[in-house]
Amino acid sequence: MQTAPGAARFTGKVALITGGATGMGLATARLLLREGAKVVITGRSEDRLKRAAEDLGGGERLLAVAADVSRPADLARLTAEIRRRFDHLDTVFANAGVGVFKRLEEFTEEDFDSVVAANFKGVFFTVQHALPLLRDGGSVVINASWTHHKGLAVGSLYAATKAAAANLAKTLASDLAPRSIRVNSVSPGYIATDMFREAVSSAEAREASRQQVVLKRIGTPEEVASAVAFLASDAASYVNGVDLLVDGGVANSIPA
Ligand SMILES: NC(=O)c1ccc[n+]([C@@H]2O[C@H](COP(=O)([O-])OP(=O)(O)OC[C@H]3O[C@@H](n4cnc5c(N)ncnc54)[C@H](OP(=O)(O)O)[C@@H]3O)[C@@H](O)[C@H]2O)c1
Repeated sequence: MQTAPGAARFTGKVALITGGATGMGLATARLLLREGAKVVITGRSEDRLKRAAEDLGGGERLLAVAADVSRPADLARLTAEIRRRFDHLDTVFANAGVGVFKRLEEFTEEDFDSVVAANFKGVFFTVQHALPLLRDGGSVVINASWTHHKGLAVGSLYAATKAAAANLAKTLASDLAPRSIRVNSVSPGYIATDMFREAVSSAEAREASRQQVVLKRIGTPEEVASAVAFLASDAASYVNGVDLLVDGGVANSIPA
């Protein structure tokens, strides 16, 4: 059943957003709260979570829990806390991730282990731990990246983990179908968040990124949040196993 236009799409729903204290996770938390959801945000930094909770206005419908998604024991503690506070989940946005961008010869084993741990192991075990709490008919959205659609010189490690994360959306769409749980991914382009500002630090490099975008601008976290909310909502009730590019045309089109 579809929600009437204009009505809050997430009233009474419970959403978990990993990496919810900053960037796209925070923008998604704000949108879902505005649309009536109860929202759980996680991240490793207590300070960032505290700031985000203040920013979001706190309240009964928000729970902030420090957890590292690459540690299954943290995820077990997180889901136990969600069960105590909100009983169940309707939506998971597996968004937490890190980026290390270097030429192939510069990567260390530590780089490899930390990026795989957050971006692949973290997504895998986030969904697995959320499963007992997820209601039948619920939805999962995984944050991938445009870089698994198109090669980027310094992106070998990052892009491969995002390819794995997007692949999970396809296979889990089938795996979780007996419970009517839909699983999709979003692939953001260049989005103005801390990750982008750290990876693309000079004004020249940011301008070069902007020029690669058909729409000739860097995206906002809110533009990704609205795509995530669509995929998580009943409006996407027949959308399953897809990867939705939210990239201003970086991956598929050549700037005029
Ligand atoms: N910005 C872009 O241009 C872009 C493009 C495509 C895809 N993405 C993807 O979008 C997602 C969100 O990133 P963002 O751009 O919004 O940047 P961001 O502000 O840096 O957000 C990343 C969030 O993930 C959390 N995080 C990282 N590792 C974690 C872990 N092991 N456990 C729990 N939380 C963890 C971080 O919090 P703590 O450090 O406190 O843990 C942070 O809140 C990422 O998966 C990223 O790869 C970004």
